[in-house]
Amino acid sequence: MKICIVGASGKLGKYMVQHALDRGYEVVGVCRERSVSKLDAFKGRIIIVPGATNDREVIKKAVAGCDGVLTVLVPWGSDHYSSGTAQAVLDYAKPGARLIFSCGWHITRDDKDVYPLSLKREEKIIRWLTRIVPFVDIDDQVEACRRIFASDTQWTVVRGSDLEEGESQGLPAWSRHVGDPILTSNLTRRVDYALFMVEALKNDTLIHVAPAIVGCRTPSALTHAAIH
Ligand SMILES: NC(=O)c1ccc[n+]([C@@H]2O[C@H](COP(=O)([O-])OP(=O)(O)OC[C@H]3O[C@@H](n4cnc5c(N)ncnc54)[C@H](OP(=O)(O)O)[C@@H]3O)[C@@H](O)[C@H]2O)c1
Repeated sequence: MKICIVGASGKLGKYMVQHALDRGYEVVGVCRERSVSKLDAFKGRIIIVPGATNDREVIKKAVAGCDGVLTVLVPWGSDHYSSGTAQAVLDYAKPGARLIFSCGWHITRDDKDVYPLSLKREEKIIRWLTRIVPFVDIDDQVEACRRIFASDTQWTVVRGSDLEEGESQGLPAWSRHVGDPILTSNLTRRVDYALFMVEALKNDTLIHVAPAIVGCRTPSALTHAAIH
């Protein structure tokens, strides 16, 4: 299996690279030129295509021949970084390739999510701050996901809860809607978020689904497992 990881040099990206190598996959990583050294630990074991992830030529080259593409969707800046990245992946990944995208709980697939007040407050604050300094563009990440949901590719959008570092606890639990009791704990280890992304490549039941995830050892996941 040959896969591409778009945003490989970030925290989530590096964990995904490791999980993919552990599975014996051939890995092509895309990251900004200045971040290539962050992948030194994988030197000789992965191919790196340096460049902006919304550069269509960079993505075209990186995803060529890949059976799966894992994309870290980040809403940085104000020049449509997220939607540009998503569109390039949608346009250039080979037909039938599994496309897995990361984002947060704030993305909704069908408007049936019920958000905790803390999350609504957080989003309001970020939106207010970005009116002063446009360091992120949440609406562009929303637009990126709208395009993914509308595409006829084999997509999965994995919606992350709050994240923490720490040793793996195993594959996160998930649900289709934020607000479902299993998700109440709102915490996942980043290494396990990456695990979910990589495992999704081979899980066809997740095609055209936007799972919201939570750590499998969190109280809400354990309570739910005990009930069912
Ligand atoms: N952080 C959270 O609490 C949280 C919660 C839920 C979901 N998520 C989702 O998880 C995913 C990973 O997020 P993360 O917070 O854990 O970050 P991360 O894995 O460290 O990834 C950040 C990515 O953004 C890139 N980046 C940073 N600054 C940039 C800039 N100015 N222009 C372009 N690219 C830039 C980084 O590339 P370089 O290596 O080149 O800097 C890296 O690929 C995202 O999809 C996010 O929506 C995060």
